[in-house]
Amino acid sequence: MTQTRVGAVILAAGKGTRMHSDLPKVLQQLLGEPMLWYVFKALGELFGRDIWTVIGHKAELVQKTFEGLNLCDKWVLQEQQLGTGHALQMAWNDVINAGIEQLVVINGDTPLVTAESIQGLLDHAKEEQSPLSFISLTLSDPASFGRVVRDENSQGSVRAIVEAKDYDPDVYGPEPNEINAGIYCIDVKAISPLLDKLQNNNKSGEYYITDLVGFAVDAGMKVTAFDCGDDPMLLGVNSPVELVKSEELIRARIVDSFLNAGVLIRQGASVRIGPRVTIEPGAAIQGPVEIYGDTTLAAGVTVDSHCWLKNMRIGRDAAIHPFSHLENAVVGNKCNVGPYARLRPMAEMQEGARVGNFVEMKKSTLGKGAKASHLTYLGDAQIGDHVNIGAGTITCNYDGQNKFTTTVQDGAFIGSNSALVAPVTIGKGALVGAGSVITQDVADEMLALGRARQISIPRRDKS
Ligand code: UD1
Ligand code: CA
Repeated sequence: MTQTRVGAVILAAGKGTRMHSDLPKVLQQLLGEPMLWYVFKALGELFGRDIWTVIGHKAELVQKTFEGLNLCDKWVLQEQQLGTGHALQMAWNDVINAGIEQLVVINGDTPLVTAESIQGLLDHAKEEQSPLSFISLTLSDPASFGRVVRDENSQGSVRAIVEAKDYDPDVYGPEPNEINAGIYCIDVKAISPLLDKLQNNNKSGEYYITDLVGFAVDAGMKVTAFDCGDDPMLLGVNSPVELVKSEELIRARIVDSFLNAGVLIRQGASVRIGPRVTIEPGAAIQGPVEIYGDTTLAAGVTVDSHCWLKNMRIGRDAAIHPFSHLENAVVGNKCNVGPYARLRPMAEMQEGARVGNFVEMKKSTLGKGAKASHLTYLGDAQIGDHVNIGAGTITCNYDGQNKFTTTVQDGAFIGSNSALVAPVTIGKGALVGAGSVITQDVADEMLALGRARQISIPRRDKS
């Protein structure tokens, strides 16, 4: 038996007027990842490369956001957003040319959909042998969703989907609580002739994908709804209220799953962890905390309250103390960070290093066991093993035009309140006196003083 070739189309061209934002709706973020990222993740599991994404509003920005992420490589442009049915028409030729026989179409604003729900729909379509089926939900408030109209006469079979705006109880009967989730399963060959029939003679003046249901029924086809109860993961996101509701759902799920896997998360209700974060069992987090992007926390790591982390690698038994802000950086095993530390992109702390309060690192390495415990800026600096950077040390890395490197070799000691004017190298075991401005290289084991010598002379007014 040959396998049916399956594929998916994501409808993501709309502006999302109800979000009141310049950002295309599908780029609105949940826990630091765009809405569309979640849809790609769920569909990728089932359809691999056979996913077409219809974009229109700020299409370039949408495409650019996913560049190089290897989530979608088939973009379809819908220049004018004339409706969901029109969006599908735009992708249709590509789908046919690719030989897709069974097509899942999904609204791009349904970020919490799971591969399981979509597989459920595919199984349902097969079982029911219906050329057109869709996921329906039953909600106490059908809100602005499309209403599922069923036939009173023939065992309640699906008759049509009618948009909220166009719903007339005189024509369709009392408002049903069953709504359309915006996820469809289509037999490409059977439905193809119906696609050109779509009209825009409705309250929105748009070509609705949902009209295919009525057309298919009229053509004598069996249309069925895959009933998913009131599963909140399948709700579309149209407004800020709906966005934060969905975000809260996924947030709670992620925190629970880490807890269950052996991560100690205290005050979990105030912990926000993105879907790409990896945390080993045995790590401990004290909320409120935010951890996003491609971050990894190894076993034994502690992250205290009020920390913000993104794209971080944190090694075993490292401790991140309160109020630290860390992004695109590496913290080695057994390091100590904060309180009140800031690691900016390309900061790297090697094993056992320490960064204390009000210390900022950017594009700099702090060697094994090295310390910068208080009030310091390390930018474009290579700091060796076991170096001590005194309080108030500043690497002067920028002359207004270019950036320069500061190198401090193993075992050197930088006295408090020193300015290291780059490019400059402090040799192994060298000592820089407190308050120095260092503009020339210091050789190994030397003492460098770059400040006026102190004098004590009698006070004039007392002489
Ligand atoms: C749609 C359904 C509605 C369903 C609901 C579920 C239609 C006509 N209505 O309504 O029955 O209950 O989803 O959430 O389909 N889009 C395009 N091109 C366009 C217009 C929209 O790609 O020209 C995309 C949007 O970016 C969005 C999706 O299609 O991701 C759905 O559009 P939206 O305007 O949100 O439809 P709803 O009013 O929510
Ligand atoms: Ca929607």
